[in-house]
Amino acid sequence: MLGINIGVDMGTTSIIIYVEDKGIVLSEPTVAAYRKSTGKIAAVGKKALRMVGRAPKSIEVVRPMKDGVISDFTAAEHILRHFLQKICGNMVFKPNVMICLPAQVTNLEKRTLLDLATSAGAARACLIEEPIAAAIGAGIDVTYPKGIMIVDVGGGTTDIAVITMGSMSVSKSVRNAGNALNESIMRQIRRERDILIGELTAEKIKKKIGCAYLREAELAIEARGKSYITGMPVRFEVTSTEVFLAIREHLESIAEDVRSVLESTPPELAADISESGIVMTGGGSLLHGFDEFLAKKMNIAVRVAEDPVNCVAKGIGKVLKNMEMLVNGGYIFKTRDDIRGYSDYTDGLLEGQ
Ligand SMILES: Nc1ncnc2c1ncn2[C@@H]1O[C@H](COP(=O)(O)OP(=O)(O)OP(=O)(O)O)[C@@H](O)[C@H]1O
Ligand SMILES: [Mg+2]
Repeated sequence: MLGINIGVDMGTTSIIIYVEDKGIVLSEPTVAAYRKSTGKIAAVGKKALRMVGRAPKSIEVVRPMKDGVISDFTAAEHILRHFLQKICGNMVFKPNVMICLPAQVTNLEKRTLLDLATSAGAARACLIEEPIAAAIGAGIDVTYPKGIMIVDVGGGTTDIAVITMGSMSVSKSVRNAGNALNESIMRQIRRERDILIGELTAEKIKKKIGCAYLREAELAIEARGKSYITGMPVRFEVTSTEVFLAIREHLESIAEDVRSVLESTPPELAADISESGIVMTGGGSLLHGFDEFLAKKMNIAVRVAEDPVNCVAKGIGKVLKNMEMLVNGGYIFKTRDDIRGYSDYTDGLLEGQ
């Protein structure tokens, strides 16, 4: 097969690219900045992220992935094309791209993702479900007839899935993840203190002092925002208790969703999960104490995978190794012309692994 094989985890928060035989070569925010007058791209990735909340009126900063799926095709295409070109710039053949998608998306959303990859410069494109890639990236052999539960807490979606024999048995994808926590922190600070803070500040606060339970020894950090009343810039101290109160409901709701997936899991698979525990992946799983919180709620052991942010990209990387075989099997790598009418791209993806 001509062209190198590339894995892409195009998440709501960040895009991570894996190149076969090289590993992860790039990790950048999924953000693009446009010049409104010309419609031309001003910046993508880290450069564009710095402009969030700071751009002048002439520039629009967009996050083209929302809730795990594409909400702005043009911006998403620009970002992917920019990074693919950066990686494959002087190569003669176009790359083959495997891209991941959340557990529950419509066929239309699947087709749009495939279109995105091909129009951004892929010779051929195929899809893999995010929880399956996450499990493989977490070092789990997913091919056995044995139940595995993955809870992937990303920026836009939390994907909860029970996997057996390389496929999902039960799954749920909810639009409640890291970004929702940030928004709640912003709301709480505005409500309680009449102070407006930006998205990046809320995220910083969450990462520094956020916690899934009430800390006995309260932590505090200084933050900057703008008074809602006077309109002037202010410095203030925010505490871990405040942050906990802001995000608590979201965590309870994720726990409820995990419970509902477990309730609809067939008994043998549920028994496997209660024995081997739940595995958490995605950046959101790094919230302090999230694993303990979930373990207490479910009464099942919970562990956060090693390097949880990169699990999906690493998992796609492992699957890329079997690319030739998968292509020969006729399962994947559809050209743009093949896309229409092709209903399930991931069918049989892991057979023979
Ligand atoms: N230490 C931390 N504590 C709490 N949250 C964190 C931490 N580190 C990262 N996050 C959160 O993880 C989220 C990003 O995770 P990830 O990179 O897995 O998302 P994504 O794959 O881009 O999104 P999605 O899978 O929903 O499309 C962000 O909301 C970020 O704030
Ligand atoms: Mg993700």
